[in-house]
Amino acid sequence: MKNQIIKEFKERFTSSPTLYASAGRINLIGEHTDYNGGFVFPGAIDKGIMAAVAPNAGERVRVYAVNLGEYAEFGLEEKDAPRQSWARYVFGVAREIIKRGGTVKGFDAVFAGDVPLGAGLSSSAALESCFAFALNDLFNDNRIDRIELARIGQSTEHNYCGVNCGIMDQFASVMGQRGKLIRLDCRSMEYEYFPFDPADYELVLIDSKVKHELAGSPYNRRRESCERVAARLGVETLRDATMDMLEAAKSDISDEDYKRAKFVIEEKERVLTVCDALLAGDYEEVGRQMYATHRGLSADYEVSCEELDFLNEVARECGVAGSRIMGGGFGGCTINLVAKDRMSHFVTEAVGRFRERYGHAPEVYPVVISAGARRLD
Ligand code: GLA
Repeated sequence: MKNQIIKEFKERFTSSPTLYASAGRINLIGEHTDYNGGFVFPGAIDKGIMAAVAPNAGERVRVYAVNLGEYAEFGLEEKDAPRQSWARYVFGVAREIIKRGGTVKGFDAVFAGDVPLGAGLSSSAALESCFAFALNDLFNDNRIDRIELARIGQSTEHNYCGVNCGIMDQFASVMGQRGKLIRLDCRSMEYEYFPFDPADYELVLIDSKVKHELAGSPYNRRRESCERVAARLGVETLRDATMDMLEAAKSDISDEDYKRAKFVIEEKERVLTVCDALLAGDYEEVGRQMYATHRGLSADYEVSCEELDFLNEVARECGVAGSRIMGGGFGGCTINLVAKDRMSHFVTEAVGRFRERYGHAPEVYPVVISAGARRLD
C-alpha cells in the first residue's frame, strides 16, 4: 500500500510527502454505551488508512482516494464543503481543527485503505484520525493532544456527515496500541490498557456483507430514545440510571424507549463483568457476556438483522465461547471469541452454512490488535 500511495502522489504532485497511518477498530463489549456516558472496550486493528500528505503553500486542499479512483479539491472555509461523502471527512477534520483555533493551510494528499467499508470496523474513524493526526503534525507542531484529535473526528461525524456517534471509534483509532484493548469510561474519559493475548482463544470477525450505513440511519434515533429516557429519569445520561429507576418510570415511557434504555443499562454492567473476567482469565465468562450483548442488541436495541442472528446461532452451535454483533449494527460483522482448537471447525461451518442459506460467502477476518494513528518515518 505504501509504495502505491507514494507512486500515486508523485504522479499528481511535486512536493515530497510525509506518510501517516491510522486504524479501524474492534470492540470486545460495550455497544451503544459511549453516547450514554458508559464504558466501552475497543482496540485498534491491523486494517486501516494510510495517507501521504504535504502542505502545498496555497489555501486549497487536493486529495486523491486510491481505492475509489476519485479526486476532490476544495477550500478551507465553511462554504467550501465538498460533495463527495469521503471528502467531507477530510474537509470536516480540517474545519474542526480550525474551529478550535488550530491552523490548517492548503495541502495535497493521497490515501488508501484496507478497512472493509460498511463492515462496522470504523473505516470513517480511521480516515478521520489519520488526517487529524497528519494535520496536527504538519501545521500545529502536535499541540493538539490525542484525545482532542479523537474529538475532532467525532465532531466531523456530527457536523459534516450526519452521524451523532459517540467517541469510541475515534478514540480507539487514535489511542490504540499493539496487543492491547482499552477500557474507556466515556463519561470521565479515563482509560486503561488491557493486554489481550489469551493462550487458548482467538478473536475472529465474520462479515455478513450486509452493508452497514449509519448516516441518516436509525442510529441517530437510538440515541434520541436514550436521551429521552435520561431526561425523563432526571439524569444526564443513562450511565446514571438503574433498572429500578427505569421500572419506576415505565408507565411514562414508550415500550420502544423502555427496551432501548434497558439494553443500555444492562450493557453497562456487562462491560464491568467482562473486565473482572478478563483479569481472572475467565474467557468462558467473557464469552457468555458477549452472547448476552447479542441478545440485547437483537431483541431490545433492535440493531441486528437476520444474517447476523444466523451467524450468532451458528457460533453457539459450534461451541464458540462468545459471539455477538459488533459496532453500530444494521449489518456488518459478528465478533467471535473462539477456543483455538475449535477455530477451523467454526470458520468452515460459518462460511459453508451462510453461503448455503444466503447464496454468498461471508468474509472472515482474524483480529490482530494493533497501533492507532501515527506518523510513518
Ligand atoms: C458506531 C458509533 C460509535 C458507537 C457504536 C456502537 O460505531 O460510531 O460511537 O456508538 O456505533 O457501540
